[in-house]
Amino acid sequence: MPRRGGPIQKRPIAHVDKVVAVASGKGGVGKSTVALNLAFSLALRKNEHTGVPLRVGLLDLDIFGPSIPTLMGLQNAGEPALTDAGAILPLTNHGLPCMSMGFLLPSSQPSSPEDPSAPGDNTDTPIVWRGLMVQKAVQQLLFDVDWSLGGASSGLDVLVVDMPPGTGDVPLTLGQLVNVDGCVIVSTPQDVALSDVRKGIAMLRKVNVPITGLILNQAYYLCPGCSSSGTSTPRYLFGKPDAFTRTASRLSLPVLAELPLVEGVSSSADAGRPYVLSGGGDVAKEDGEGGMRWREEMGRVAEGVVGALWGR
Ligand SMILES: Nc1ncnc2c1ncn2[C@@H]1O[C@H](COP(=O)(O)OP(=O)(O)OP(=O)(O)O)[C@@H](O)[C@H]1O
Ligand SMILES: [Mg+2]
Repeated sequence: MPRRGGPIQKRPIAHVDKVVAVASGKGGVGKSTVALNLAFSLALRKNEHTGVPLRVGLLDLDIFGPSIPTLMGLQNAGEPALTDAGAILPLTNHGLPCMSMGFLLPSSQPSSPEDPSAPGDNTDTPIVWRGLMVQKAVQQLLFDVDWSLGGASSGLDVLVVDMPPGTGDVPLTLGQLVNVDGCVIVSTPQDVALSDVRKGIAMLRKVNVPITGLILNQAYYLCPGCSSSGTSTPRYLFGKPDAFTRTASRLSLPVLAELPLVEGVSSSADAGRPYVLSGGGDVAKEDGEGGMRWREEMGRVAEGVVGALWGR
């Protein structure tokens, strides 16, 4: 939060060892899908020292368009419980705890959070209160959630944060308030997406968020069952990856993965089932080589993130 008299102090998130954000300057490029599947890919890995599976949480910072409740199959989960100290307890599905503004909003929103009985025409200063409300909501999601997971557990090894599109209040607030350990940037091949990505990266670098690498999403399409030999030719539906590769090298950032466009990735997201949890046999049957490639590439992303976070 901007304040007078001295630099802003970044704070750790209680019970969280590492924070990794998934961002892009552009909307609709697959951030939430990547964040969800990255969280589960990480949770399928073991801590090198203890041999215990990594403890992973997922935080949705998309205040105006939260997708994580749906992607986690938790859209009808109701409100989260509170601890005695008033902290918000994450909701869990598929064994992974998560938190989202989508769990905190009443189902039909009043026109003003301060005065639920106010008529819906107080639009004089929407941007001002929106800005402040956004910062407040982000702060609450960052610092008022209890990630200790109870019992003997010592909290999370890593919290994956799904960012909203754009370079607005949310990434700025995150970068100013929290020590972010890594950030995965998602883009699609189109020039318009790449231009927004460059702006997003410039802004994240300004607030000292280290960029782990780039993902090219929807890079190509492999038509399942279109080839008798079993190997189909990649179709670059949104353009060849050359401009993306050039952007990555100009920014001196590694390319973590090139994810194909896969029908099952989209349908499983809508059904609240993370695609990385689908069995290999089902993926091969339904989505063919494209599905298998997508899984391998997502595994590479998780490897890259683990390497960047823990220096392996
Ligand atoms: N590789 C992929 N193959 C198929 N569908 C995909 C792929 N990546 C994303 N999608 C689909 O594209 C749509 C947008 O993805 P998603 O919601 O993850 O984007 P986003 O960047 O988080 O969007 P927003 O900016 O609105 O938060 C979703 O329907 C998702 O299922
Ligand atoms: Mg999203």
